[in-house]
Amino acid sequence: MLAVVPHPVTVRVPSKVNLHLAVGDVRPDGYHDLTTVFQALSLTDEVTVAVADEPGVEVVGENADAVPTGPSNLAWRAVQELARFSGRDPEEPRVRVVIRKGIPVAGGMAGGSADAAATLVGLSALWRLEVTRDDLARLAARIGSDVPFTLYGGTALGTGRGEQLVPVLSRHTYHWVLAFDRRGLSTPKVFGELDRLRAEGAPPRAGAVEPVLEALATGDPRQLALLLGNDLQAAAVSLRPGLRRTLRAGVNAGALAGTVSGSGPTCAFLCADEQAALRVAAELAGAGVCRTVRVAHGPVPGARVIGGEDAP
Ligand code: C5P
Repeated sequence: MLAVVPHPVTVRVPSKVNLHLAVGDVRPDGYHDLTTVFQALSLTDEVTVAVADEPGVEVVGENADAVPTGPSNLAWRAVQELARFSGRDPEEPRVRVVIRKGIPVAGGMAGGSADAAATLVGLSALWRLEVTRDDLARLAARIGSDVPFTLYGGTALGTGRGEQLVPVLSRHTYHWVLAFDRRGLSTPKVFGELDRLRAEGAPPRAGAVEPVLEALATGDPRQLALLLGNDLQAAAVSLRPGLRRTLRAGVNAGALAGTVSGSGPTCAFLCADEQAALRVAAELAGAGVCRTVRVAHGPVPGARVIGGEDAP
């Protein structure tokens, strides 16, 4: 009898920006306790999973060469975690993962984490597993701190390493301009630089998170713009001093405020509305301070199937 090979499944997954990122001291396990507010953005990756005799990961799109395709790729880690969870051999999964990058690589927007979240959702459909998103979130947290958020999307308060999430009421669609830098930044290096800066002095700290949550509940981008804060920004700017110029250029172009996204080096500029974002993007693109400029909006949903037999 011929076995039926399921059709490939394609998943779209968002990037993230941190509206607020307060970093605590380094923990014994090397991680830092965080209090953060994530927003999922419409800048996305697409991940297709398929049954294949030649297992592995393939990456296409802008800067694809910079993504490792071996066992360190977070999408492959997701394949192995889900294989183990569902009683398959994690070393021999007959799965091929194709990642179409729209999210900048090593850009502080959770691109690698997003690919892992998309792989968990896609493979659950391909293998017809009876799993809830909360089951997947537990596996996701083992793969990386930002993986659970890209699974759920929306707007969320993150604590612990960033993997403990509570949804946040957000009343508005926010419009962003993103400035990609020429090269990525390593997340561990940026956290390490923050530890170094703190040992030497007192780099600025983000304020309390509550006002950020209140601003999101009212939905006024001007109020939110005043409250954007990221403890990693000083560290990212220390490693990549040119970011200061990028941040200034975005505000000069008419953004309400700018922030380094996560560990950087992508800079995210909050704008008053969609028209303003398009104007800021055009002006920033002409300023010659970054590699590429994109517009995006948020919040958007987390990883979801868009193609294949289980598509809605
Ligand atoms: O969890 P993830 O693998 O994405 O983290 C990458 C690195 O970023 C960690 O190895 C650690 O150096 C740093 N990190 C941290 N504190 C966090 C999250 C990440 O120090 N809460």
